[in-house]
Amino acid sequence: MNTKHDFIRPVVDRDLKLYIETYGCQMNVGDSEVVLAIMQTHGYTHTTQPGEADIILINTCSIRDNAEQRVLGRLKELGALKKKKPALIIGVIGCMAERLKEKLIEQERMVDIVAGPDSYRSLPELVGAAQQGHKGINVLLSHEETYAEITPVRLDKNGVSAFVSIMRGCNNMCAYCVVPYTRGVERSRDPETILEEVQDLFGKGYREVTLLGQNVNSYRWTKNDTDMDFPDLIKAVAEISPLLRVRFATSHPKDLSDKLIETMAETPNICKAIHLPAQSGSSRMLQLMNRKYTREWYLERIAAIKKAMPECSISTDLIAGFCSETIEDHAQTLSLMREVGYEFAYMFKYSMRPGTKAARTMTDDVSEEEKTRRLTEIINLQNELSLESNKRDIGKKFEVLVEGVSKRDENRLFGRNSQNKVIVFPKKDHKPGDYVMITVKECSSATLIGEEE
Ligand code: SAH
Ligand code: SF4
Ligand code: F3S
Repeated sequence: MNTKHDFIRPVVDRDLKLYIETYGCQMNVGDSEVVLAIMQTHGYTHTTQPGEADIILINTCSIRDNAEQRVLGRLKELGALKKKKPALIIGVIGCMAERLKEKLIEQERMVDIVAGPDSYRSLPELVGAAQQGHKGINVLLSHEETYAEITPVRLDKNGVSAFVSIMRGCNNMCAYCVVPYTRGVERSRDPETILEEVQDLFGKGYREVTLLGQNVNSYRWTKNDTDMDFPDLIKAVAEISPLLRVRFATSHPKDLSDKLIETMAETPNICKAIHLPAQSGSSRMLQLMNRKYTREWYLERIAAIKKAMPECSISTDLIAGFCSETIEDHAQTLSLMREVGYEFAYMFKYSMRPGTKAARTMTDDVSEEEKTRRLTEIINLQNELSLESNKRDIGKKFEVLVEGVSKRDENRLFGRNSQNKVIVFPKKDHKPGDYVMITVKECSSATLIGEEE
């Protein structure tokens, strides 16, 4: 009998090779590893060479227009590859798939498959159908899907640090942001499966995990007689071994609780680094952005962190030129940066995203030139702050987790300290995964250079 399943099974008698290219944030990196796990259990093998692939999946990002333009450019290149090899199947997955849906198939002729972030379990079926000549799309968002029991196939090569997804989606509805539309509502992953995954990684030699979610501080698991919030979860992960470092990203300032700060302060192997996106230093902008905190409230959270953990590093995300931003608002962002003294920042020009609250109800009225000018000021200031922060580290001794050989000098290794700063130092007989005590001797704005003593 020809069941539906038989019908969709690949009709070729050799291994089919899958190539995945990933754009966007760490959530996407983690998702590509889940996709690979799903496809491998259906008999596909992984290749790192697009030229030898039978199936190419592009895991995409919609956060800013330039992220989407890059992918559209890449699809054109892949279209040329497909002309030479007509059996090649090209799929667009991730946030652009969710945002553009069937438009991707209609407008980009090389695309055979479109799959949104919650529909990866249906990929083998979609690929099978594409092999029979049927273009396929699945962009259903889910309230439950967390791919909880799927063990990701790790694509990172260092074997020391890994990302572990603990929740999906976002309920925050920041006015500028497309993520709630592309990733759906917030849902937390079963803590048991998280702990199992981390335990497994530790057993395989990994020494650092970063717990990932769009807003990890709203993690909550209340089923099966357990009630676990984010501080409880991170504590449980840290208890797996004192030799395991635990990081997390990202925190929304409005949800950064005293309980989390206390848990971090009292647990040595939870790294002393917090990524706390401010977006703007102007309370007027923050309200328009629907961030649900003020400048003062943000600064109070920073003060609480510094009081409990004076050594904690703080990094941020900033947007230049959001709707109606004045020179005074922008000056407030610069002054916030100075006041906090960020170690590091991701800095962006505002990019209007169709369908968001800002796109529907506000005017993108800061000119491109002015956005560029403001962003340049922000970047220049951050470079100064990073350099100052690194200079303060000269003479200090840090425990460094070795990640690999320095790209510039094979006699040196690089790794990170608890504060997430990269430190380069002489190799001696150390290897990735070792902890080494390093004293900082010199620095640039991006790197610390040290020696073992
Ligand atoms: N969930 C995380 C970050 C998500 S996206 C958080 O809220 O912190 C990463 C960063 O991209 C955001 O922090 C923001 O600074 C930036 N971003 C999001 N939408 C943007 C847009 N439309 N234009 C420019 N930057 C944007
Ligand atoms: Fe976007 Fe805001 Fe959610 Fe972050 S918290 S993903 S910026 S809506
Ligand atoms: Fe981009 Fe989607 Fe991540 S829009 S930033 S890949 S959640």
